[in-house]
Order: sequence, then C-alpha cells, then structure tokens
Amino acid sequence: MRVGLLTGGGDCPGLNAAIRAVVKHGEGRYGHSIIGFRNGWKGVVDGDVLPMGRQHIRNVLPVGGTLLGTARFHPKAEDGSLDAVMATLEAERIEALICIGGDGTLHAASKVAEAGVKIVAIPKTIDNDVAGTDLSIGFHTAVNIATEAIDRVHTTAESHNRVMVVEVMGRHAGWIAVNAGIAGGAELVLAPEEPFDIEQVVKFLKHRHRAHANFSIVVVAEGAEPREGGAMDYTTQVGKYGEIIAGAIGDRLAHEIEQRTGFDTRVTILGHVQRGGSPTPTDRILGSRFGVAAMDAISEGKSGVMTALRGERVELVPLAEVAGKVKHVPLDLLRVAQALA
Ligand code: F6P
Repeated sequence: MRVGLLTGGGDCPGLNAAIRAVVKHGEGRYGHSIIGFRNGWKGVVDGDVLPMGRQHIRNVLPVGGTLLGTARFHPKAEDGSLDAVMATLEAERIEALICIGGDGTLHAASKVAEAGVKIVAIPKTIDNDVAGTDLSIGFHTAVNIATEAIDRVHTTAESHNRVMVVEVMGRHAGWIAVNAGIAGGAELVLAPEEPFDIEQVVKFLKHRHRAHANFSIVVVAEGAEPREGGAMDYTTQVGKYGEIIAGAIGDRLAHEIEQRTGFDTRVTILGHVQRGGSPTPTDRILGSRFGVAAMDAISEGKSGVMTALRGERVELVPLAEVAGKVKHVPLDLLRVAQALA
C-alpha cells in the first residue's frame, strides 16, 4: 500500500518520533511504501513529496521539530486547494493518509476524509487542547521547559523583590500555564478558561507582599483575558490562523500590575522556546505509540479516526467527533493552582 504522511500546523518536539514509528512499522511490519509530503497540507497541494525510507529516520528520536517540515495552511473547497489535494493524492497513487496535527490540521483532515480519502490522524500540539485524547504530542516537553523557566525566574524575582509575569503559550486552553504554574510554584495562574479580574489580582499581590513575601510569580497563558466589564479593557489580537500576538497579554498585565501596585514588575515571554529542542521521553514514547497505532489502523482499513491516549491505553476515536473542538482545563485542576497560591 502507498501511505501518505504529513505534519501540519505549529511544530513541536516528538513529531519525529511519530514519523519514525510510521515509517519503521509501515515498512517493516506491513511492507507499505511511505510517501512524505513536505510542509503539511501545502506539500499535498503542491505535490511536494519525499518518499521515506529507513535512511530518513536514522537518529531522529531525540531531535525536535519535524523532518518533513510544516506550515500553517489548510486546504479549502472555496479556493480550489481541496481539489488540488485530491489531484495530488491520485497522481501519487496514495491509498491512505496519516495526518499529524493540531486543531486546524485535523479539521482539514476531517474534510478530506469526508471527500472519500482514507485518513488516520495523530494529535500533536504543545497546547494540549485537542479533544478526545488525554495527551497530545509536544505538551509534556513544553511543560518541562516552562517549569524550568519558572524555576529560574523565581530566584531572580526573590533577589530583586519583584513581581515576575511569565507568559506561556495556550491560545484557547491553559494547560501549559496551569501545569507549569503548579510545578513551578507560581503564586497566580491566569488561563483562558476563567477570565481574570485585575482588581482581584492586584488585591492578592498587595496582600501577599504586605503579609509574608516580597516577590511573586504570575503565570499567564497567551489566550487569557480579563473579565468583561471589569477594570481592565483588553482584546486579544489573533493572526490569520488564530495565532496570538506573542507578548501582548504578558506586557499589558505587567504594566497594569506595576501601575496599580507600585511593585517593580518584569515580564518574560517564553514564546517558541516552548516548542523547540529535544522531546522528553514521554513525548518520544507517545509519538512512537501513536505512530504504531495509526499504521495498524490504516493497515486494518480503518479511516476517519484519530489515535488518542485514554488513561493507559491508545485508542481510536472518530475524527468527526473531535475535529474543531477544544479540550479545556477542568476546573478542579485550576482550583489546585489557586489553592497553592
Ligand atoms: O501550536 C500552538 C501554538 O504554539 C499556540 O500556542 C500559539 O498561539 C501558536 O502556536 C503560535 O503560532 P506560530 O508558530 O504560527 O507563531
């Protein structure tokens, strides 16, 4: 069988582990040919192919990013790019496609599956907000990086008696903010799930600094917003593909805190540092498990499904049920972060 493979959307550590598993398992166990597409859906539209063999996946496990390249590009019926996808798949005699991606890539995958192409998807995003799976590839590494950054900011905050605002990624969900905030001992964690009240933030910081501390760490997800009608007027600005202007909320929050408390305040924007570098063992293992499961599913003739971690098991969930949905941080986890303030 000729199986197509692509990685789409923002990159993350652990993608190469999934690619490696697809190629090794596909060739070794099933004798399939794996045809990679460069730069996500864009490569399918352009017919930009890379036939994959063992020579391409040597030594890639510890390497971040994606050896296939990626792009924020989603084919649409309206501009003819969906037709171009179908034409390339036919020309390359692709019988099934494995798509590794986050919300945008998976949404496009479900549209292509509806058009009759056999598709199995694998979830990846450091934001961890793909519905239907406990974990997405890349999240674990990002939490590690953010936690280490918070630890480092901690010592300088304490030395200088400062408030430190640390902005982490997370457009629609605060998974990195909440997990790294808890692990790094942040005093406040602000996530998109619960619009914050700047007056409460200021009250909390003033009380803390008066009562028992001379520094504070505030972790804010890039998609966090102040509550409507509150004392802080702010609207999140997003780009063409929903990406948020890095640093906007972090800078603004630091400014508001300094103005309203008089405390010396600094901001650290972690940005793409969270998406780079070597994957943790957990992400290497997750990528490997998802790659093997996706290849098994394709080989058994399954389609329109996504690999998902459910507890200890890797299962298949219908793509149509999860594509386009956001998995939010549950309130009980947010409460843990707040309880430890
Ligand atoms: O991949 C998800 C994400 O990391 C978001 O948290 C962030 O808003 C976005 O990607 C940044 O995208 P880009 O790399 O296109 O700037």
